Amino acid sequence: MKRVAVLASGRGSNLQALLDAAGRQLPAEIAVVISDRPQAMALARAARVGVPASFCDPRGLRREEHDSRIAKICEEHRVDAIALAGYMRILSPVLVDRFPGRILNVHPSLLPSFPGLEAQRQALEHGVKVTGATVHLVDVGLDTGPIVLQEAVPVHEADTVATLSERILAAEHRIYPRALALLLGGAVRIESRRTHLAGE
Ligand code: GRF
Repeated sequence: MKRVAVLASGRGSNLQALLDAAGRQLPAEIAVVISDRPQAMALARAARVGVPASFCDPRGLRREEHDSRIAKICEEHRVDAIALAGYMRILSPVLVDRFPGRILNVHPSLLPSFPGLEAQRQALEHGVKVTGATVHLVDVGLDTGPIVLQEAVPVHEADTVATLSERILAAEHRIYPRALALLLGGAVRIESRRTHLAGE
């Protein structure tokens, strides 16, 4: 059984989608959940189902030092892949290079549109009619790595940031377990920026 670390800073609904899929649609076990915030609901979600939950305190540490502690926890738990789920930090090479091609992130827009914070607000303010969710491989940039899966989501006339975010979140929860399963199953081949997905 493949093993996955999930890094999350907040609510953890994507973590929950991965926990719910683990052992079913996702042939993997969530081996550890790591957060940079002690109050993150993600830690409580992990603890509730008996998954090791680890708070990794970033205060007073350089980014590289913090990332190297996270890498150590991941190695101790012998993880095959890392899933970022609402993790609010950009990774340094210290972590990215330790797990090459094995770190995924989920983002609430159709990248490369609207990277960074508040992607749903950016989409509304720009006036796009279609936005969506993206799962991509993580590099050291901000939401820049090769794209694995995307799902389009319509923007409705009456949408607010809250209603649009909710519709996008449902798409995130659908594509994240699928993308992670593809990666762990060796079905993702990367050729420069493009990924080729076996069996999709
Ligand atoms: C999601 O919208 C995700 O795409 C973004 O941050 C949010 C995290 O939500 N990176 P949750 O903590 O998984 O509920």
